[in-house]
Amino acid sequence: MPRPIEALIHTSALSGNLARARAAAPDARVWAVVKANAYGHGIERVFEGLRGADGFALLDLAEGERVRKLGWRGPVLLLEGCFEPRDLESCSRLNLWHVVHCAEQIDWLAAHKTHQPHRVFLKMNSGMNRLGFRPEAFRSAWARLNALPQVDEISLMTHFSDADGARGITHQLAAFDDATRDLPGERSLSNSAATLRHAPGVAAVDPRRFDRADGMQMRNDWVRAGILCYGSAPDFPAHDIRHWGLQPTMTLRSRLIAVQQLQPGDTVGYGSSYTATGPQRIGIVACGYADGYPRHCGTDTPVLLDGVRTGTVGRVSMDMLAVDLTPVPAAGIGSEVTLWGHGPGDTVLAIDDVARAGGTIAYELMCALALRVPVSVSE
Ligand SMILES: Cc1ncc(COP(=O)(O)O)c(C=O)c1O
Repeated sequence: MPRPIEALIHTSALSGNLARARAAAPDARVWAVVKANAYGHGIERVFEGLRGADGFALLDLAEGERVRKLGWRGPVLLLEGCFEPRDLESCSRLNLWHVVHCAEQIDWLAAHKTHQPHRVFLKMNSGMNRLGFRPEAFRSAWARLNALPQVDEISLMTHFSDADGARGITHQLAAFDDATRDLPGERSLSNSAATLRHAPGVAAVDPRRFDRADGMQMRNDWVRAGILCYGSAPDFPAHDIRHWGLQPTMTLRSRLIAVQQLQPGDTVGYGSSYTATGPQRIGIVACGYADGYPRHCGTDTPVLLDGVRTGTVGRVSMDMLAVDLTPVPAAGIGSEVTLWGHGPGDTVLAIDDVARAGGTIAYELMCALALRVPVSVSE
């Protein structure tokens, strides 16, 4: 029998979360962001749940090819554009739209031979300082692109650094707005946090932080919904998935493979980081950091045991971790343990809660699901 650990990808949760993005941005089209192998879920596994999107945004040509192999004929956007000139040949062959964020990418386009002009998204560095033309260089980049026969429609794009936090998006929106006001083309501005938090009429956000309150118009023809599609709150812990109406799309679950009865003073696991203060039953779960469970999660990281919330005990090891059985005295070998996602009945353990206990974010946990964990797609 294989180890009892497994992951499930939930198709209806993916489509439900996508519907949340649509509801938050009713006038926009929605890119489902499926980079990093659909945030660790697997592009092929999420395709059914996300095929209601208007397009798929990703990074690697190989991922673009996979989306085309699934039969998707709609828009596909390379979020970082081409990494070298010959990538443009693949863009022509696969009809991939691509971001243009630096002068070299314009040079490559100018030298590219294609029958079909390319749809490009010209990216502004409005403050994130990763990719894009600075506002003062944006217009001349646009003019260069606009003069190329290799280029069809030019859309305008930027990326927010603080849509999930206190600084907000106003400063970047102002920079973008000032430099693009009279330029034609569709706009793509918002990631998940901006889509949910800075949507028109969002009551949940402190109105003093409502970035559009200063009258600035945020035109968003395409929102880029990543983490919200995968059932994590982009501004956790300020808000959780219940608040945003999102559902987990990945469940990681396993079973107890041993039970230990601790006496006062007994310790648990490597480094003896946990000491029992009284008699205590603990269960050993077939899940460790080699499965992608974060090693930084210390004692009391939440887990569901037969659907009941309890906590981990001691250090996570490569293949095992320990949980407190106190809240479920009947638990024994074979009892179901939900590390994150959907538990028995209607129980849910948000991946955000686990990520926080490990000092990280849900993005990292999803992406780190290990290859050795068998994954299946469920309704
Ligand atoms: C350019 C760009 N747009 C959109 C996204 C999606 O972000 P999120 O997953 O926070 O929605 C990302 C992700 O990092 C990104 O790099």
